[in-house]
Amino acid sequence: MNDAAEALRSWEGCSIEHWRESWGLPQLLVFRRVGSTNDIARALAEADAPAGTTVIADEQTTGRGRQGRRWHAPAGKALLMSIVLRPPKRPVPVPATLPLRVGLAVARTIEKLAGIRVGIEWPNDVLVGGRKVAGVLCEAALTGSMPSFVVAGVGLNVALEAVDFADDEVRARATSLLLATGRRLERPALAGTLLHELLHVTAADAGALRGEIARQLATRDALRGRLVLDPTERPLGVGEGIDPDGALRVRTPDGRLQRTRTGSVRVGPPTAAQP
Ligand code: BTN
Repeated sequence: MNDAAEALRSWEGCSIEHWRESWGLPQLLVFRRVGSTNDIARALAEADAPAGTTVIADEQTTGRGRQGRRWHAPAGKALLMSIVLRPPKRPVPVPATLPLRVGLAVARTIEKLAGIRVGIEWPNDVLVGGRKVAGVLCEAALTGSMPSFVVAGVGLNVALEAVDFADDEVRARATSLLLATGRRLERPALAGTLLHELLHVTAADAGALRGEIARQLATRDALRGRLVLDPTERPLGVGEGIDPDGALRVRTPDGRLQRTRTGSVRVGPPTAAQP
């Protein structure tokens, strides 16, 4: 944890206690600047903080993404939030489904508040107009093979402008709610809705993806019917949905069905079969 960081008493015009109460949280810490909200949430969880404990920051100095990548956002222009989840033991949690569940919560939040269509790109990206608007980083502490807690970190680009992205390559792949809608959405409204959605998609069940959750993911699956590339841009095949255990299904050019459980993929150009 970053010891130098002091928690704020108020944020975006209201007291922290007001936000904590109106979002129905057991504990809420908001900082101007920290290393990583995931690290602070993890330290709190290790000290037995209850499920729903939430950490928000205006800025991170060592924000991280998946696979050791940096996650950078200019101060005050993104929602940088981590929440402690304590998945119920029954049905047995399937950790690979958590980033997808959290991604679904982010997607539903954006749809509700911005009224736009949102895609989920396996395993953890949230897309608007084919560009990444948010990323999810779930970090689990395991007792044996069971997660004793999971820290779900979300970085949502709210008010970034084109100049805020590092270079043209990032600009071509990323967006923000401001760029996508022309509207400046309020971070507290996004946080409140996201927390509500998050507790909804993770509190009751963190098991295999079935029923309503599976259906909701399938309708937003940005890789379905698309050419899927590995991180080196080599084509893997065409996306054929997400299995109940969170694995990505890809139909290879020679007709085999391949399941990918870890790693990154990218969406390629439209396939011939695609409208
Ligand atoms: C990714 O797309 O690779 C995941 C990005 C996750 C970024 C968020 S910002 C809040 C939380 N704290 C971090 O250090 N990372 C996550």
